[in-house]
Amino acid sequence: MSTIKVIREAPIATVQLDRPEVLNALSEELMDELVAALEQLDNDDEIRCIVLTGNEKAFAAGADIKKTFVDATPASMLAQDLTTRWERVRKVRKPIIAAVSGYALGGGCELAMTCDIIVASETAQFGQPEINLGIIPGAGGTQRLTRVVGKYRAMEMVLTGRRIKADEAKAIGLAAQVYPAATYLDEAKALARTIAEKPPIAARLATEAIDLAYNSTLDAGLEFERKAFYLLFSTEDKKEGVDAFMNKRKAVFKGK
Ligand code: COA
Repeated sequence: MSTIKVIREAPIATVQLDRPEVLNALSEELMDELVAALEQLDNDDEIRCIVLTGNEKAFAAGADIKKTFVDATPASMLAQDLTTRWERVRKVRKPIIAAVSGYALGGGCELAMTCDIIVASETAQFGQPEINLGIIPGAGGTQRLTRVVGKYRAMEMVLTGRRIKADEAKAIGLAAQVYPAATYLDEAKALARTIAEKPPIAARLATEAIDLAYNSTLDAGLEFERKAFYLLFSTEDKKEGVDAFMNKRKAVFKGK
C-alpha cells in the first residue's frame, strides 16, 4: 500500500494515513487502500480495536481538491461512488479510534466522525470548510456534525467554514479526550488496548446500540438495546465476567 501504513500490534492495530506532502488529502486511491486495510483488520481474529491516525500536522485535510475537484462534474463525482467507500468504513464492526493531530478538515473531519471515538492532540483543528470552495460537505458532515454538536453550532461551522481547536472540539462533544501532541497517539493506543481487553461481542453490540441512538427513534434504539442485552447472557464472556467478579480475579475474554 502506498498511501497508508498498517502497524499490527495485536490485539490492536494502527492505520496511518500517509500522504504527508498533501496533508493526507483523501484521494480515491487512499480511500480504496483505507477500506481494504480496515476490512482486513475487521476480519483478523487477533485484532480487537483499531486506531486511525495521520501525522502531527494533519489527520487529513479533506478530499483531494487537486485530483478530484478541478474538472469534476456531477457525473464524474457520481461515478467515483464515494458513498460506497464511506459506507464500508462505517460498517467496520471493530471499534475505531480516530487519533487526530493537526488538520481534520472537510472529509478529514467527516472521516474522524465516522470513527467510534475521537482522541485529539492539542494541535488538532476540526472544520468543514467546503463552503469556501462553493460546495458543502458530502460525506456525512451536515448530518453527523449536527447530531453530535447540535443544529446551531453545526450551522455556524458549515456556513462559515470556521476551524475549531481541540479544546472547543472537546467542549462541544466531538473529541472525547485532548492530550499534548507528544502523547496523543500513545494515549489513543492505550485506550485501544483498554477496549481490546473488553468482551468483543459486548463491545460490538454496545457500538451498534449507541450508533442507533443517532440513527433511529428512541423506541427502536431501546428495543435493540434490550434484545442485545438479553442476547449477551448467552455468551461465554458473560460467564467469565461474572465469575471473575465473584472470585475477585481479572476476567479474560475470548469473544465467544
Ligand atoms: N487537497 C489537495 N491538496 C491539498 C489539500 C487538499 N484538500 N490540502 C492541502 N493540500 C496541499 C497543498 O496544496 C500544498 O501542496 P503544495 O505544497 O504542492 O502547494 C500542501 O498540501 C501543503 O498545504 P498548504 O496549504 O501549503 O499548508 P498550510 O499549512 O499553509 O495550510 C490548510 C493548510 C489545511 C489550511 C490548507 O492546505 C487548506 O485550506 N487545505 C484545503 C482544506 C479544505 O478545503 N478541505 C476540504 C476539501 S472538500
